[in-house]
Amino acid sequence: MASQVLVAANRGPLSYALDAEGTLSARRGGGGLVSGLSAALATQPEALWICAALSEADREAVRRGVSEPGVRMLDIDPAVYDDAYNGIANSVLWFTHHHLYDVPREPVFDAEFRRRWDSYTAYNRAFAEALAEEAAEGASVLVQDYHLALVPGALRELRPDLRIAHFTHTPWASWDFLDMLPDDIRRQLVWGMLGADQLGFHAWRWSVNFITGSNTDDERGIADSYLPSGVPERGVWHRKLRADGGGYEKKRFTEVRQYPLGVDADELRALAHRPEVDDKLAALRAEVGDCQTIVRVDRTELSKNILRGLLAYRELLTTHPEWRGRVVHLASAYPSRQDLAVYRAYTESVRELAAEINAEFGTADWQPVLVSVEDDFARSLAAYRLADVALVNPVRDGMNLVAKEIPVVSEAGCALVLSTGAGAYDELRGDALTVSPYDVTATAEALHEALTMPAAERAERTKRLAAAATALPPKAWFQAQLEALRA
Ligand code: G6P
Repeated sequence: MASQVLVAANRGPLSYALDAEGTLSARRGGGGLVSGLSAALATQPEALWICAALSEADREAVRRGVSEPGVRMLDIDPAVYDDAYNGIANSVLWFTHHHLYDVPREPVFDAEFRRRWDSYTAYNRAFAEALAEEAAEGASVLVQDYHLALVPGALRELRPDLRIAHFTHTPWASWDFLDMLPDDIRRQLVWGMLGADQLGFHAWRWSVNFITGSNTDDERGIADSYLPSGVPERGVWHRKLRADGGGYEKKRFTEVRQYPLGVDADELRALAHRPEVDDKLAALRAEVGDCQTIVRVDRTELSKNILRGLLAYRELLTTHPEWRGRVVHLASAYPSRQDLAVYRAYTESVRELAAEINAEFGTADWQPVLVSVEDDFARSLAAYRLADVALVNPVRDGMNLVAKEIPVVSEAGCALVLSTGAGAYDELRGDALTVSPYDVTATAEALHEALTMPAAERAERTKRLAAAATALPPKAWFQAQLEALRA
C-alpha cells in the first residue's frame, strides 16, 4: 500500500543478524534520533522508512524477502555502496562540510573521484526510485543527511506531486570550502538539494551557509539566495530565463530553516537508570574514587577534536599540578568508520596520546585518563551520571547531542566546556564555558574553571542547560518539519 509519510536515510531503524543456523533476527537500533523518528513515524498511518542494507545479514534479509513493518531496505551493489558511502559521503562530503581537509595534500579530484561520484549518483538514484515507487499521491517525504543530497532533485523529476524535505545533520560548508568541489559537482549537489521544498539544518549558521553558498546557475536555471532580515521566510528562489529572453520567471521557492534537535529527557533518564547502567556506574565509581571527573563521549571521529581535548587535559595537569591525583578524565571514543584508514589512524593516535599522559603523570594509585574504545552505551550513560565536567570541543559539528545529553543525566550537575564549533553552541553558550576548538591553552583553563566552579553554580547552570537541551525533542522535531512541509 502506498505511504503518506516516508523517511529516507542511509542508516535504518533496525539491522539484521544471521546466526550459525542461518536464522535472521531483527534488532532495533539505539540512539535518540532513531528512537525519536521511530516514535514519530509510529503515529503516522502507513509510514515507511527506506534505508540501505548495511551488512551481509541485511542483504540476506532483502534477498529472502524478510522485512519488518514500516521499513524497506535497499540491497545496493556492495561495490557501489562502498564508493558512495566511504568514497564520497564520508571522504568527500563529510570532509567538505566539516572543513577537515589537510589542504596541502587534499582534496584530489581525479578520475577515481569521478568514478566514485557516479556510484554516489546511482546510490541516490536507487533511493529516489524506491521513494517514487512507495509514495502515495501528494505524500510527504523527509530525506536525511549528506548521504542522500541528490535524492530531492532526482525524486522531484520522478514525482513532481510529492512534498519533499531534506534535513542535514552535519554542518553545511562555508561557501569557500564548498567552492573546492569541481564546479559541475558543486552544481549537482546544490541542485540535488534544491529539489526539496524545504531544507532543514540544526543551526542557523549552517542554514545561512547553505543559502550563501547556493547561488549558482546552469541549464536548470538560477538559484538565488533570499535572506531577509525578518527571519522566517528564508530560502532560495529558482528562476529561469524566459524563452523569449525577456527577463526571468520565478519557478519555485525552497524554504531553508533550522530545527535544532534536542533530547527526550524522560526517555534518556529512564535509559540511564537501568540496572545495567547502575552496575557500570558502580564499577566506574570504584575506579575513580574521590576524584572529580571530566567526561567526554564521542565516536572516534576526526571532527570531534579528541586529540586537542587530551592535549588540553595534559596542559591542565602541567600548569595546575594541584589537580594531579584529584581528577580523572573519562574519555569514551567508540569506533566509527573503521573502513577508512584515516579513522583507524586517528583512533590509534587517541590511544597513544592517552597512554603517554598516563605514563607521564600516572602513579601507583592514580590513572589520569581512562579511555574506552568500546561501543558501550551503558558505560557512556554511567559516565554521564558521574560527570562533574563535560568536555565537548568539536572543531565543527552539526549539533552534538552529547552536549545536550550530559546536563540532562548528570547527577550532581556538571560544568560544560563547549567549543564554538558545535551546532549546540548557539543554544547552550549562555551556561557553558566556551572555547575555540583550536585553543588548547584556553581549553585547559576552561577545564580548571569548570573543576573549581562552586557546586551551587554548577547545579544552576545545569538546570538551564537541561532546559535548553530538551526544548525540541526528536518527536517534536519531526512533527514540526512534517507540519511545515504539509502547510
Ligand atoms: C553523523 C551523521 C549520521 C550518521 C552518524 C554515524 O551523525 O550525520 O548520518 O549516521 O554520524 O555515522 P555512520 O557513518 O556510522 O552512520
